[in-house]
Amino acid sequence: MPYTYPHKDLLDIERLTVADITAILDRAEHYAAQNRSGQKKSPILDGKTVVNLFYEPSTRTRTSFEIAAKRLGADVVNIPVEHSSVKKGETLLDTALNIAAMQIDALVVRHAETGVPHFIAPQIKASVINAGDGTGEHPTQGLLDAFTIRRHKKTLQGLTIAYSGDLVRSRVAGSFIRLMSKFGNTIRAVAPQDFLTDKFKNLGVDTTTDMQAALDGADVVMTQRIQLERMNEGQFAMSLKEYAERFGLNHDKLKAAKPDVIVMNPGPVIRDVEISSALADDPRYSVIREQVENGVAVRMAVLELLLNR
Ligand code: CP
Repeated sequence: MPYTYPHKDLLDIERLTVADITAILDRAEHYAAQNRSGQKKSPILDGKTVVNLFYEPSTRTRTSFEIAAKRLGADVVNIPVEHSSVKKGETLLDTALNIAAMQIDALVVRHAETGVPHFIAPQIKASVINAGDGTGEHPTQGLLDAFTIRRHKKTLQGLTIAYSGDLVRSRVAGSFIRLMSKFGNTIRAVAPQDFLTDKFKNLGVDTTTDMQAALDGADVVMTQRIQLERMNEGQFAMSLKEYAERFGLNHDKLKAAKPDVIVMNPGPVIRDVEISSALADDPRYSVIREQVENGVAVRMAVLELLLNR
């Protein structure tokens, strides 16, 4: 029987099953090949309307949702929040309800408050896709990260993964860790103590402040920038130089990992802080640009599965 995505929305990884994730990634393989071909378009969403509503800045996610929807033949509207009636005091819900009244099919939402897409979803008929909510989740980022790993490692199971970054505030971590833990992997999170939390302990995630211990025998290293915009002024006590020395990934520290390790970063990359510029650009290890490329294919798969249920 062909697979049918069982939800109206894509709000988080938490409620996806291994079968849902596998179906999305399998379909993304089709689009990844198509995106490299001479004919990138397949108009299966002809007549559908996708609206991007981003209350926070974005380069990769917003652009790749737009490209993904257009490659599938959908019409795409980007709401420039800074020039919208939000600036006149219109509430978030009124904004969503008014956009939904235009008979759209999908609303892609990014917001600084955790839970905003979950709040909007039951109130509108269109599919809501979480493009990053506060410190919650960023599910399509988790899916594209998993897709990239599966392509390189030929599996999503039994891997040793080091995650370096802010577990407390990172929505990328929220989706990535939930997804990879569903498949049975060893996950070690490494960061300054202030960035570590027990919230993923029930998923079997070990935390450490020791980079070498985290990297030892790793198949995959995910690096992530410090989430300064989610901290109060003065909350980040360490200097960027000290952070880079202790937690920034470079060729020397990477020697502790497996020889065929892949190095990832969801972007934006803050060069020479969480990762050295030389390593970020080293094609022997870095798959950072592949992550961005794969984001289009994964978002095409997500849009197709949600809008053609
Ligand atoms: N990875 C990611 O979400 O990047 P953007 O903030 O540029 O969308």
